[in-house]
Amino acid sequence: MNALKGKVAIITGAGSGIGRASAIRFAAEGAKLVIGDKSDAVHETAKLIGEGVTALQIDAGVEADVAKLVAAALSTYGGLDIAFANAGIIGDMGGILTLIQPPGQRRCGST
Ligand SMILES: NC(=O)c1ccc[n+]([C@@H]2O[C@H](COP(=O)([O-])OP(=O)(O)OC[C@H]3O[C@@H](n4cnc5c(N)ncnc54)[C@H](O)[C@@H]3O)[C@@H](O)[C@H]2O)c1
Repeated sequence: MNALKGKVAIITGAGSGIGRASAIRFAAEGAKLVIGDKSDAVHETAKLIGEGVTALQIDAGVEADVAKLVAAALSTYGGLDIAFANAGIIGDMGGILTLIQPPGQRRCGST
């Protein structure tokens, strides 16, 4: 359970689902974490982890908010080794998502 010992990671969308589960696992593997989510549930994730985690309520689609996560990693834990951009941003992408979407099937997203 030490695969990430000494590593510092950022995880977006850590308020629930895959992001929360990843944050708990990264912490169990020894990583220091900066976790972000647009929901205040990110603070609940931090409580579940306990020590070695900094939680910020941010929008991963806003560059200045992402910069806050990076700044927190550098100032609180002295570096940044891993960035897990888990929060999905589905906007006006067009392209492949539109092309592969079968007729009658809705695209799902988390924003
Ligand atoms: N669950 C699946 O089967 C699956 C499959 C393929 C891709 N994904 C993608 O994986 C990611 C996580 O999926 P999940 O099932 O854990 O979703 P989820 O809805 O359980 O969790 C997503 C989290 O991201 C947060 N979030 C959404 N937009 C945000 C933003 N702009 N800034 C900050 N936080 C934001 C939400 O508040 C939520 O806590 C998503 O991008 C999803 O599209 C999931």
